[in-house]
Amino acid sequence: MNGPETRFIDRVREVYTHRDRTLAELLEGRALPTAFVDRLAAPFLDPMHRWSVASYGGRPLPLINLGYWPGAKEIGEAQVALVHLLVGCAPDLAGARVLDAGSGLAGAAIILASHYGAQVDCLNVVEQQVCWSKDLIRMHGLEDRVRVHLGSACDMPFADGVFDVVFCLEAAHCFADKPRFLAESRRVLRPGGRLLMADAVATSQNYLLRWEWLAQLPLVTWPDWRGFILASGLSLEEERSIAGEVYPGFMQWLDREQPRERLLRRLVRRAWLEESGWRRRIGRLARLPLQLLSILPGLVRRLGDGLLWKRDYFVCVARK
Ligand SMILES: C[S@@+](CC[C@H](N)C(=O)[O-])C[C@H]1O[C@@H](n2cnc3c(N)ncnc32)[C@H](O)[C@@H]1O
Repeated sequence: MNGPETRFIDRVREVYTHRDRTLAELLEGRALPTAFVDRLAAPFLDPMHRWSVASYGGRPLPLINLGYWPGAKEIGEAQVALVHLLVGCAPDLAGARVLDAGSGLAGAAIILASHYGAQVDCLNVVEQQVCWSKDLIRMHGLEDRVRVHLGSACDMPFADGVFDVVFCLEAAHCFADKPRFLAESRRVLRPGGRLLMADAVATSQNYLLRWEWLAQLPLVTWPDWRGFILASGLSLEEERSIAGEVYPGFMQWLDREQPRERLLRRLVRRAWLEESGWRRRIGRLARLPLQLLSILPGLVRRLGDGLLWKRDYFVCVARK
């Protein structure tokens, strides 16, 4: 693996590894699956707050994607819908061998195996997610149909031509060397096999507007992706934007979960109303700049709106 790739993998491990959370907490909605966001949000949330978690066949199934929102009210429903949308781009998967590249907590793999009858290999660079995925697969009784491997999508630990489908849902934005991921996908696909990919993409080549410096993610635009796919020798069968079905629904859900107004009200109450007496109030005022930090989630969300506004979301199918 080359230098930038190793650096990004370290970053991905930092983003997704929980330091003091358990899988049970995640499944109860007491923590967010993206550890980095969980750490950022936790100090500002009511400890009783519960995030909604997707469920499948009556069992919890954490997914880590922005969701496909038409008809969905909760994030879990939207996330499951996004899996079905991407699978819908492929022919019948019954008995097919599928590689899920960047598999999160194996949520999509569990749906691919239990709903579509596929044999799935998950690939993930985050050790903790690999362990937790195995627990979840056991919980869903799918050990015979879903396997999990620790490794990078840019350096796949599989023989040539063994998969019918490479499935990659909202993970490729993390891959540092996208041409290498495509070359690896082509190598492990059988002739006629397909790559199904859905992901957030940048809409600008401008380094600042891509927010790459802040998000520390190697985001590229859809035209970049198209160029990489064509150069890899895969043929592009389908490409479409679903940004309108992803971002507005996600942002509305986030606002329902954590309204900015509630955070502001909390700040004002803390600063002025909870204590009486001028001296205390002046003391409080002096601490206001610090307390301003407590509206950070609202500000981050506003920034996020801008960030997402500069994003597109693409679904594509490429064939070997
Ligand atoms: C946003 S999550 C998406 C997870 C899953 N596809 C889902 O929809 O629930 C991105 C996933 O990609 C994984 N990932 C990032 N870089 C990777 C790499 N180079 N190789 C394999 N997996 C990677 C992360 O560990 C994480 O599990």
